[in-house]
Amino acid sequence: MTRDEREKVAWFGITIGDDRYRGKGIGNRTMRHLEAIFAQLGATCAEAGVFEFNEPSLRMCMNLGYDQIGRKENFTYWNGKFWADVRLLKRLALTSEGNDKKSEILRFPA
Ligand SMILES: CC(C)(COP(=O)(O)OP(=O)(O)OC[C@H]1O[C@@H](n2cnc3c(N)ncnc32)[C@H](O)[C@@H]1OP(=O)(O)O)[C@@H](O)C(=O)NCCC(=O)NCCS
Repeated sequence: MTRDEREKVAWFGITIGDDRYRGKGIGNRTMRHLEAIFAQLGATCAEAGVFEFNEPSLRMCMNLGYDQIGRKENFTYWNGKFWADVRLLKRLALTSEGNDKKSEILRFPA
C-alpha cells in the first residue's frame, strides 16, 4: 500500500504512560475510537511511526490492519544500537457524516 498527495492523512501516536495499564485492551480500544474520529473528520487514512524494537506497538497496529509503507533505517539509538522507524498506514472506511458530528465524537466512550 502507498499513499499520495490526494490523501488526507491523520498522523498520530499514542502512549499509555503508566505501564500497569498496558496489555489490558486500552490501546486497541483507543485506536479504534481514534480511527472513527479521523474518518468522521474527513481523513482517508491514518499513519503512525513505530520504532522497530517496539514489538507490542507493531503487533497492535498489524492486528488492526495497518500495513508497512516505509522504513527509515538508523532512525533512533537505543540499547546499544540503531533502530529503524517503521511507517504504518491504514486506509479508513469512508463516512458521510463529515464534521457535523464533531462534538459528539470527541467524547471518549464509557
Ligand atoms: C503500545 C501500546 C499503546 C498498546 O496499548 P495496550 O493497551 O498496552 O495494548 P492492548 O492491551 O490494547 O493490546 C493490543 C495489542 O498490542 C499487542 N501487545 C500489547 N501488549 C503487549 C506486550 N506486552 N507484548 C507483546 N504484544 C503486546 C498485542 O498484539 C495486543 O493484541 P492482542 O491482545 O490481540 O494480543 C501501549 O503498550 C503503550 O503505550 N506502550 C508504550 C508507548 C508506545 O509504544 N506507544 C506507541 C508508539 S506509536
